[in-house]
Amino acid sequence: MEFSMIIVLSSTLLFSCTPLAYAQKVASPPAPTPTPSPAPAPAPLPPYVNLTYLLSVAGPFHNFLNYLESTKVIDTFQNQANNTDEGITIFVPKDDAFKNLKKPSLSNLTQDQLKQLILFHALPHYYSLSDFKNLSQVSPVSTFAGAGGYALNFTDTSGTVHLDSGWSKTKVSSSVHSTDPVAIYQVDKVLLPEAIFGTDIPPTPAPSPAPETSPTADSPTSDSAEAGSTLGKSSPNSSYRINGVGIWSQLVLAIAGVLVLFL
Ligand SMILES: *[C@@H]1O[C@H](CO)[C@@H](O)[C@H](O)[C@H]1NC(C)=O
Ligand SMILES: *[C@@H]1O[C@H](CO)[C@@H](O)[C@H](O)[C@H]1NC(C)=O
Ligand SMILES: *[C@@H]1O[C@H](CO)[C@@H](O)[C@H](O)[C@H]1NC(C)=O
Ligand SMILES: *[C@@H]1O[C@H](CO)[C@@H](O)[C@H](O)[C@H]1NC(C)=O
Ligand SMILES: *[C@@H]1O[C@H](CO)[C@@H](O)[C@H](O)[C@H]1NC(C)=O
Ligand SMILES: *[C@@H]1O[C@H](CO)[C@@H](O)[C@H](O)[C@H]1NC(C)=O
Repeated sequence: MEFSMIIVLSSTLLFSCTPLAYAQKVASPPAPTPTPSPAPAPAPLPPYVNLTYLLSVAGPFHNFLNYLESTKVIDTFQNQANNTDEGITIFVPKDDAFKNLKKPSLSNLTQDQLKQLILFHALPHYYSLSDFKNLSQVSPVSTFAGAGGYALNFTDTSGTVHLDSGWSKTKVSSSVHSTDPVAIYQVDKVLLPEAIFGTDIPPTPAPSPAPETSPTADSPTSDSAEAGSTLGKSSPNSSYRINGVGIWSQLVLAIAGVLVLFL
């Protein structure tokens, strides 16, 4: 406690002296504390969200990002993200989801089908997690790939958003970014549209009766706030941040030492 008093005192001192101190002060708050402390209010984000950058640092979403780039759908999505009137909501499967996809394979899809499949993972409008309560009442919802066989059904079960394409029943497992106009949500499965794979859906094996009562994953507000605060400051990557904290605490120690000598 004494030590933190000293930190506060000397940081106030330094804050007024050097511009460097200010920069370091801003960079240090997201120190990796395991306790779910309330995230500080995120600084206002710039309107431009670089989707390629976001997807390359979160996840891992490398498979999805590769498909986005090979099909050029990234340009469509980035264009929509830049269009702040409507915005965009993207459902991103983790690399594991592609690895676990065995039954219908993506390997023999044509380039056109692949493009539609990737477009199928987004809605041409920004939706916060709480908006899905309403969306579940208007299911099926058209995706970027279209309506009909390219629509998704949503259901909101006590705050958890479930998606259903017929082939893929999955849920939003975390919020990567959710600030109007761009929402990026992680999903557990690759979304397979009926328009490509047909309506002849093989019966799913009886789902293992694992009740979804994980208290940590299903809290959308803290989730998105946390993700927003760590991802919001896009420039300092984590190694830089750790270095910054190290240098900063050394600085504080040095200043504190000097202060103690004088008191
Ligand atoms: C977006 O981020 C990617 C990856 O970090 C980078 O290569 C690209 O230049 C960025 N685009 C813009 C317009 O800043
Ligand atoms: C989106 O906006 C950024 C920044 O203004 C720009 O560099 C980029 O080319 C735009 N991308 C698209 C696809 O409109
Ligand atoms: C991909 O190949 C499998 C088996 O070879 C076939 O059953 C399936 O219809 C093919 N899918 C497409 C989209 O062509
Ligand atoms: C959600 O639905 C309710 C009633 O169904 C409506 O009053 C409200 O305006 C809707 N909200 C949005 C954001 O569409
Ligand atoms: C989606 O919802 C509509 C309307 O409730 C229903 O007719 C349709 O079968 C559902 N589709 C899937 C894939 O569950
Ligand atoms: C993070 O930043 C440091 C220093 O700026 C750089 O050396 C490192 O390559 C960066 N790491 C990543 C993953 O971008």
